[in-house]
Amino acid sequence: MARMRTKRHIPERLERCKERWFENPLQNKGEWRKTCGFPEDVELWLEIGCGKGKFCTEMAKLNPDVLYIALERDTSVILAAIEKAHEQEIPNLFFLNVDANLLENYFAEDEIDRMFLNFSDPWSRRNKPKRRLTYRDFLVQYKKMLKNGGQIRMKTDNDILFDFSLEEFEFCGFELSELTRELQNSEYDKDNVRTEFEQKFIDQGIGIKRVVATNKK
Ligand SMILES: C[S@@+](CC[C@H](N)C(=O)[O-])C[C@H]1O[C@@H](n2cnc3c(N)ncnc32)[C@H](O)[C@@H]1O
Repeated sequence: MARMRTKRHIPERLERCKERWFENPLQNKGEWRKTCGFPEDVELWLEIGCGKGKFCTEMAKLNPDVLYIALERDTSVILAAIEKAHEQEIPNLFFLNVDANLLENYFAEDEIDRMFLNFSDPWSRRNKPKRRLTYRDFLVQYKKMLKNGGQIRMKTDNDILFDFSLEEFEFCGFELSELTRELQNSEYDKDNVRTEFEQKFIDQGIGIKRVVATNKK
C-alpha cells in the first residue's frame, strides 16, 4: 500500500517541483553552471544513482557554494529526492532523471569537479561486470568529464564490487587514496554523510568500503 502511494500522481508531483529538475538536459551540456544561475568558477559535483536523496540533500546543504547535481534513472525513486529538495528549498541542488549510460550526452569535457558513487548496484550474482558503474568503459567517460585532479568518491557494502572497482580505477590511471573497508570505524567517518543504504548496512554490522579515486590526465 505504501509503495503504491509513492508512485501515484508522478507527473503532477514532478510538475510542482519543476524548478529542481530538467526536462531536456541534453541542451545544458557544457552550460550547467550558467543554466543553474551559478558563476563559472563554482565547483560542480555529480552524484550517480542518488536514490531517495538523503545524501545529496545533506551534502548540498553542507556545501552551499557548490553546484550539486544528482542523477537517478528510476523516476519513482528520484521523485522522493526532488520533493525533499523542493520542500527544503535547497538552492544549489538539481536533478536529472536519466541513465548514467548516457552521461557523455549531458556533460562536457572537464565540466565536473567531483563525482559520488554510493552503493551502486554490484551486479555480482548475475556476473555482468560490464554493467557496473565502475567498469572501465564508464571510467573512461568519467575521466573526460572530470577535471584533472577531480575525484570520484565511492562507497559500497560489497567486497566483490569494491575489489573490482579498485582494479578498474588503477587500470584507467586514477590515483587511489583514503581507502578503508570499515568506514564507520575509521578516521574518515567524522565528515561522512550516510546514505539510506549505508545506514541499513551499518545497522546490519556490515563494513562500509570507501575509496577516493583522483583523476590524472
Ligand atoms: C542500491 S541503490 C543506492 C541508492 C543511494 N545511492 C543510497 O546509497 O542509498 C542504487 C541506485 O542507483 C540507481 N541506478 C543504478 N544504475 C543506474 C544507472 N545506470 N543510472 C542511473 N541510476 C542508476 C538505482 O535506480 C538505485 O536507485
